[in-house]
Amino acid sequence: MKPVLLTGASGNLGRALAPALAAQGWALRLTDILPFPDPLPPGASFTRADLADGLSIARLAEGCGAILHFGGISVDKSYPEVARPNLDGLYHIYEAARREGARVLFASSNHSIGFHERGETLDADCAFRPDSYYGLSKAFGELMGRLYWDKHGVENVNLRIGSCFPKPINARMLSTWLSYGDLTRLVTAAVTAPRAGHCVIWACSANPASFWGRDHRDRIGWAPQDTAETFRAEVGHIVSTDAVEERYQGGGYTSAEYSRATPSPRDPFALD
Ligand SMILES: NC(=O)c1ccc[n+]([C@@H]2O[C@H](COP(=O)([O-])OP(=O)(O)OC[C@H]3O[C@@H](n4cnc5c(N)ncnc54)[C@H](O)[C@@H]3O)[C@@H](O)[C@H]2O)c1
Repeated sequence: MKPVLLTGASGNLGRALAPALAAQGWALRLTDILPFPDPLPPGASFTRADLADGLSIARLAEGCGAILHFGGISVDKSYPEVARPNLDGLYHIYEAARREGARVLFASSNHSIGFHERGETLDADCAFRPDSYYGLSKAFGELMGRLYWDKHGVENVNLRIGSCFPKPINARMLSTWLSYGDLTRLVTAAVTAPRAGHCVIWACSANPASFWGRDHRDRIGWAPQDTAETFRAEVGHIVSTDAVEERYQGGGYTSAEYSRATPSPRDPFALD
């Protein structure tokens, strides 16, 4: 198996994935703009680099069979803060993948569709309804994957991650939670599947309260094994007092800097 490049290695998910994937015998090239804070897993190397530096990304990707792209701004920030790492950086990742013939796994987000209402069950081909510049950058990333597959045959698996934390911390996460174990199995399946093409997967555990329906998981042979339901008694009562936050799938990202008049209980334009 060719080496695998993991961006965002020093972040929460990178630090969970690096040892788990190294334990499977993968040769990992880890990179981040910040130092890697843990002992290096066996068979892994670490190089500090900025995603905005295309030459460094191209060098890091040389000879790699897959790029796990978890680096960049991972929360709601201003447009100028998001643009360089998440837009320019993504372009550098895809150009490197094209040169190497590598498959890209893109850590996309539910915030690319956050303004869908919670009552809807969405399939993966639903309309993008980003709830922030961050969510917009994830929609851009998924469309970048569409372009590079259609035009250059670069395979890519877009993981529309819900909430990937050690455990759910509020009622919304009973719908959106993804366990670290399910994430590791998802990444493994997405890298090792014989063919992927361009696919989009709802990256959440087997949550009965999920907002999400059909996707391309059968193509890579992944099914989640954990469930947020185990935590219902612990967190099911934890809701906010903000009507906008509670109404939309993206939660607090939808209400941040919201400047419309508070919507009525039923939005007549919900299906626009
Ligand atoms: N954790 C979740 O629940 C969740 C949900 C949806 C999507 N995601 C996505 O998954 C990925 C990982 O999430 P996370 O929770 O580990 O986030 P994180 O913020 O902990 O990790 C992101 C890493 O990217 C690095 N980074 C930022 N700017 C960079 C730059 N210019 N060059 C190189 N590296 C840079 C940061 O230093 C950080 O270590 C992110 O892309 C995030 O958007 C995560």
